[in-house]
Amino acid sequence: MAPGRFITLEGGEGAGKSTQARALTVALAARGLPVLATREPGGAPGAEDIRALLVEGEPGRWDGLTEALLHFAARRAHVVAAIRPALRSGCWVVCDRFADSTMAYQGYGHGLGRPAIETLAALTLEELAPDLTLVFDLPVADGLARADGRAGAETRYERMDREFHERVRAGFLDIASREPGRCVVVDATAPVQAVTAAVLRAVDARLRGA
Ligand code: TMP
Repeated sequence: MAPGRFITLEGGEGAGKSTQARALTVALAARGLPVLATREPGGAPGAEDIRALLVEGEPGRWDGLTEALLHFAARRAHVVAAIRPALRSGCWVVCDRFADSTMAYQGYGHGLGRPAIETLAALTLEELAPDLTLVFDLPVADGLARADGRAGAETRYERMDREFHERVRAGFLDIASREPGRCVVVDATAPVQAVTAAVLRAVDARLRGA
């Protein structure tokens, strides 16, 4: 059986990734493809426990390296328990955030730098990489304004300062420009349906057989 394809959705706060992940999952399933829709941090029981440590509480509760290690610990649990088994069984995986988020938020945002994150990624992922990464881009002020309306306790990153989020945005765009074969930047300021259409065009253009 052919292994499944691995698609990740990335971007800053309020970029609409989760809405687009749902729309993409529905579109792939409508084509008769088996799909696992998942997210990070989280996506497996142990990883969801670690998620609470990361997305709740005071912005300064961890230093950048501790935070990166926690994200990779959660990711390792997720990869082992869910992503690799799904891909091996022929399932397509649509993942809301993955290792590019650690590069953008901890590597660029917190200033850990690319080499530290690349080292942790190599150790944790053992060559696993997405087949396609959609990078949703929008101005920081717009994203934070959208995210501000959300309910719940998961606001730790939203409360980080504006400069942090500007570094994250620039980081995602740098990641995309370094790997144009894997990444497609999507204008997240467009209306939702137009963004979904751009997502499906990218999937069709980059992943044959979808
Ligand atoms: P979410 O809001 O998309 O569910 O993601 C939770 C938060 O975690 C979001 O503010 C970005 C942050 N994050 C990182 O800082 N590094 C990571 O590696 C991941 C996966 C998420």
